[in-house]
Formats: sequence, C-alpha cells, structure tokens
Amino acid sequence: DVPLRVLAEKLNIHIGFAAGNNFWSLPDAEKYMEVAKREFNILTPGNQMKWDTIHPERNRYNFEPAEKHVEFALKNDMIVHGHTLVWHNQLPGWLTGQEWSKEELLNILEDHVKTVVSHFRGRVKIWDVVNEAVSDSGTYRESIWYRTIGPEYIEKALIWAKEADPDAILIYNDYNIEEINAKSNFVYNMIKNLREKGVPIDGIGFQMHIDYRGINYESFKKNLERFAELGLQIYITEMDVRIPLGGSVEYYLKKQAEVYRRIFEICLDNPAVRAIQFWGFTDKYSWVPGFFKGYGKALIFDENYNPKPCYFAIRELMEEK
Ligand code: G3I
Repeated sequence: DVPLRVLAEKLNIHIGFAAGNNFWSLPDAEKYMEVAKREFNILTPGNQMKWDTIHPERNRYNFEPAEKHVEFALKNDMIVHGHTLVWHNQLPGWLTGQEWSKEELLNILEDHVKTVVSHFRGRVKIWDVVNEAVSDSGTYRESIWYRTIGPEYIEKALIWAKEADPDAILIYNDYNIEEINAKSNFVYNMIKNLREKGVPIDGIGFQMHIDYRGINYESFKKNLERFAELGLQIYITEMDVRIPLGGSVEYYLKKQAEVYRRIFEICLDNPAVRAIQFWGFTDKYSWVPGFFKGYGKALIFDENYNPKPCYFAIRELMEEK
C-alpha cells in the first residue's frame, strides 16, 4: 500500500496535518509519529506558534514547543506550515489585558512578526500570516488588531513577514470561504487590492471545516479558479469532515468518504493548489467533538489509527490522477 505522501509527491503537491500539542509525549506517541511520518510531508503546529504559547510575556518568546514540531518535521522530510502570526484568538493576557495606542500595538506586532518569522527563517516555508480577519457577513472582523490599528494591520504584517524571510510563502487563511459567498467575495477583493498595491501575499488558505453533507462543489471549483487567477497559490489548510455521532456510522462514513473524494478531485485538477492538510489525522485527537456537540469522527484515521473509508477514497483518487 502506497502512503499518501508518496502519491502526493508524484502529483507535485504536499499532503499533511496539524500536529497536536506536544504529540511526542502522548500515551500513544509512538503510533502517532509512525503514522504521521509514513503518510505526510507537510506539518502545521496546531497551537504552539500562536501568541499565547510563543509570546507569553511582552519581552519573552518561548520557541521550544514549536521548535520540537519543526525538528520532527524536518527530520522526517516534511515541510513546515507556520500557524499563525496574526489572529484574534489564543492571545496572551499581557496583550489583551490592557488598552494600547495604535502606535504601541503596531510596534508590538512588528516585533512579533519579525522575531517569529526570522527565528524560523528557512525552516518554516509557509506562513499563515493573517488568520480569520473577516466575518461571515463579509466585513473586517472586530478584533484587537482591527479596533486599534485599523485594516492596515493586515498589510503591515505581510510586509514585515516578507522582510524577515523573503523566501517564505505568505498566505491569508480563513474558514467558510470555500464557496462563493459574502465572506469569500470580501476576502477576494481584499487580496486583489493588496496585490494591486504590491503588498506581498502569495497564497490563500481555505480551512475547510465542513460536514458529511459536503459543500456546493461547482461553487468551490469556481472560487478556486478566481483566486488562482489573481496569481495566488492555494492551500487547503485545516480540512475535516464531521459526521453525527448518533445514527448509522457506516452510512455517514460512506457519505464522508464521498465528500473527501469530491474535494480532492477538484483540488487535484487545479494546479494552483499546492497542499492539502487535515486538522489532525486520527479521530482520537480532534477539536471537532469538543466544539460541534454530537459530531465527530471527522478525520481520515479512526481512534485506533486505522485508515477509514475516506482515507481509501483519497488514496484511490490520487492513484488514478
Ligand atoms: O492550554 C490550556 C490548558 O492549560 C488547559 O488546561 C486546557 C483546559 O481547557 O485548555 C488548554 O488550552 C486549549 C488550547 O486549545 C490548547 O490545547 C484551549 O482551551 C482550547 O480552546 C484550544 O483550542 C484550540 C482552538 O484552535 C482555539 O481557538 C484547538 O486546540 C485548535 O485546534 C484550534 O485550531 C483552530 C485554528 O487555529 C484556526 N482555525 C480553526 C481551528 C479549529 O478551531
């Protein structure tokens, strides 16, 4: 049986996962790492490059947890996808606990982006520079960044990241932008404007947290095409396909496999798509059951690290391409 990463290499894309916190100390760490290095060639640290971990005090950075992810990836011939430099969530108390002036916050952000990106320069190939800056209704999201700095925090972050590592691929990442809708229209126009202004932005990340009913595939395909026409690389960054935990599991697993297959098919047919990543890989460790009550089993390996129907659907499709 050919692992996914071998098939991906032939198709000239990357396939990968977001790694759980300190996965090397899980009770089943050995199994976890065995599957990870066998199947994947790109890794995102799921939490440990976020502000609350990596920048716990104003004048102190904590690179160690992220470093271990990076070391594991590079040792196993994976590239690293950094997540994330600017987000409204998982921010440290020192940052959110007081009001900053625009100038202060710009200084803090500049220091953060430059310090983190240059620390990992040459080792982190792709950065989610800005994550989830847009609301579902298609406006800038209210956040400490937007409120204090205004929308220009986005271009500033991109420019500083580029300065710190000119070779890194810089992307904007968000959820619910897979189809053509108010949110993806806003993101599209935002990125189009940035590119017209010469702001360095290389790619777009579609998180792809979806469920067994799938999405509008025609709309997804068209959406990929319009972003690709802007000259952007496309990344599927956090895919999972949740199913209800009650009811006929067998039925839902089949539906789920079909959704994975359709999404992969559209992605593999568009040369702008550079990587497809899942938000985890075993159903044992997934954010889904904790967040979507009554749902789970969203990933491609089950709780015992056995490949699921969706795994086989993806593999079969990649073999055919
Ligand atoms: O670190 C604390 C720990 O000290 C405490 O004992 C424990 C008790 O709840 O919480 C731990 O923090 C948790 C953290 O993950 C680290 O594991 C937070 O409660 C929990 O809310 C946090 O969840 C993360 C979530 O982002 C936060 O928004 C998930 O692990 C992470 O997978 C998830 O990832 C996001 C992406 O970054 C962006 N896109 C959506 C995706 C899924 O929500």
